[in-house]
Amino acid sequence: MADYVKWLGHAAFEINLDNKVILIDPWLSTNPKAAVSPSEIKAVDIILVTHDHGDHLGDAVELAKRLNATLVSVYEIASKTANMGVKNTVGMNVGGDVVVKGLKIFMTPALHSSDTGTPCGFIVVGSKNTVYHAGDTGFFSDIKYYSKAYPIDVALIPIGSVFTMNPFMAALFVSLFKPKIAIPMHYGTFDVLTGKPEEFSKHVSELSPEVKVVTLSPGDKIFL
Ligand code: NI
Ligand code: MN
Repeated sequence: MADYVKWLGHAAFEINLDNKVILIDPWLSTNPKAAVSPSEIKAVDIILVTHDHGDHLGDAVELAKRLNATLVSVYEIASKTANMGVKNTVGMNVGGDVVVKGLKIFMTPALHSSDTGTPCGFIVVGSKNTVYHAGDTGFFSDIKYYSKAYPIDVALIPIGSVFTMNPFMAALFVSLFKPKIAIPMHYGTFDVLTGKPEEFSKHVSELSPEVKVVTLSPGDKIFL
């Protein structure tokens, strides 16, 4: 199957790289914008959790248990979810990379908070495409250097403001590493997340016109 990125709503994505299905921050059962319910998810190889706020840890534990997926997160969340009964966990930390089921996973920083451990983002490196999920984060310029390790094709970027970057700062962030495609996320789920994808798109076209912004609706899938 061709590589794809599918938005499940909020910060939740299903991506397919090299025929491996990866769920990132699968908050579905109480997510008002969820494109699918957890029971509709039938097969997953890897679940990545950027931090353990409820809108990110979400249904990760139940899905990992039911589908026997490997849950990858910062060390403390890996331990916590192992204690909750997840059989296969991989704990790591910011700046490190691991290979899980043949895919390279590189953990990036995120300027945010978390109940357990440190929040993060992930760069997932497939043989044809590299996808970056920024997690919940404020602006930080070190992404300029992290992206040198694994140049990013598709970037999933929070733009909602209040808890993460606003559309302008998100566009400035993207201009530091210029992915081929930038997809806005973490906006509109609740009224308080006011950042608009049109503002993000406008600022990206001014700051780095070579980057294509693709605005998805929950449930939309793009093939890479
Ligand atoms: Ni958060
Ligand atoms: Mn969040």
